[in-house]
Amino acid sequence: MKTLLLNSAEKAADFLLKGEVVAIPTETVYGLAADALNENAVKKIFEAKDRPSDNPLIVHIADFEEIYNFTQNLPKEVEVLAKKFWPGPLTIIVKKNNIIPDIVTAGLDSVAIRMPDLNITRDLIKLLNRPLAAPSANLSGRPSPTSYKHVLNDLDEKIPAILMGPDCTVGVESTVIDLTSNPICLLRPGKITAEEISNVINKKVYVDKSVDHLISDLKDVKSPGVKYKHYSPKTRVILVKTDKNKFAKFINSKPECVAMAFNEDAEFIKNPNFISYGSENSQTQQLSRLFDALRKIDSYNKKLAYVRISEDKEKLNLAVFNRLLRAAAFNVIDLN
Ligand code: TXA
Ligand code: MG
Repeated sequence: MKTLLLNSAEKAADFLLKGEVVAIPTETVYGLAADALNENAVKKIFEAKDRPSDNPLIVHIADFEEIYNFTQNLPKEVEVLAKKFWPGPLTIIVKKNNIIPDIVTAGLDSVAIRMPDLNITRDLIKLLNRPLAAPSANLSGRPSPTSYKHVLNDLDEKIPAILMGPDCTVGVESTVIDLTSNPICLLRPGKITAEEISNVINKKVYVDKSVDHLISDLKDVKSPGVKYKHYSPKTRVILVKTDKNKFAKFINSKPECVAMAFNEDAEFIKNPNFISYGSENSQTQQLSRLFDALRKIDSYNKKLAYVRISEDKEKLNLAVFNRLLRAAAFNVIDLN
């Protein structure tokens, strides 16, 4: 099938109303969308991405009131969080009702919901007058797409259409918090931090252990996505925790490897295969460049890539660290 590039919400709506999947832009990453209330359409998402069927999807809405159509027993925090962070990169997990098909939630009795912060995407949802189920629009296991070109690289000829939009400004997937658990639990870090959420709801937010630890016992996994391989270039990735001088010394003796680090590293690195993922002093920039940088690693056709992470706790963003740990299958060297 030829993958069409679309430039209007109306054209994308035509495909979605026919029960087809369409890749859509959001402020975080591109999503692969289908009508969340159409089981057959949602099935096509899992097929195109080769996604395990026990990994549930996020349901995207355009107006806050829609949430009442698909959920029950909403805790009072929902309204407070929505007021502060929606539209925006926050996904909340709440109790579902039986309008949402089981395929969307992988049989769980909870559903993940978010309102994306991109006008064309919310216009599309309003046009359809239906919620959109959408995981990130990458092949399962690959880095999430932050431009429509990344989507084409993974899904060309596997999906009928991509709604073209701008490159994603946030660049990593939404923060996921589970409001059905006590205490409230952050399952996936994103641009919005646990601390920001905690300040808004005036409650402690517990950060799930899987965020920065390898969970060896599958029964301890709270979010099904944690079980699977993630964000992996084909090249093997190893993280190196150190400063720029020690990293340069280490990597300059390995010209056969890829070196990924910060803008500030560039002048010290003689290795010809250097990729920057932003300034060490700008976590926002690191978030927005991370997935493009991970995708670039493979273009060098090397066996191994070393990625420097900040040794300074203040500079190591939890969402960046979480994605890099998974890209590296938790392989970290500490040079200090
Ligand atoms: O920014 C984003 O969240 C993007 C854009 C497209 O909105 N979407 C996205 O979806 O990243 P996906 O499917 O790649 O990640 C959703 C994560 C998965 O780890 C999944 O396991 C978890 O959310 N999740 C979804 N529903 C859940 C539920 N009911 N309980 C626990 N975890 C859930
Ligand atoms: Mg994903």
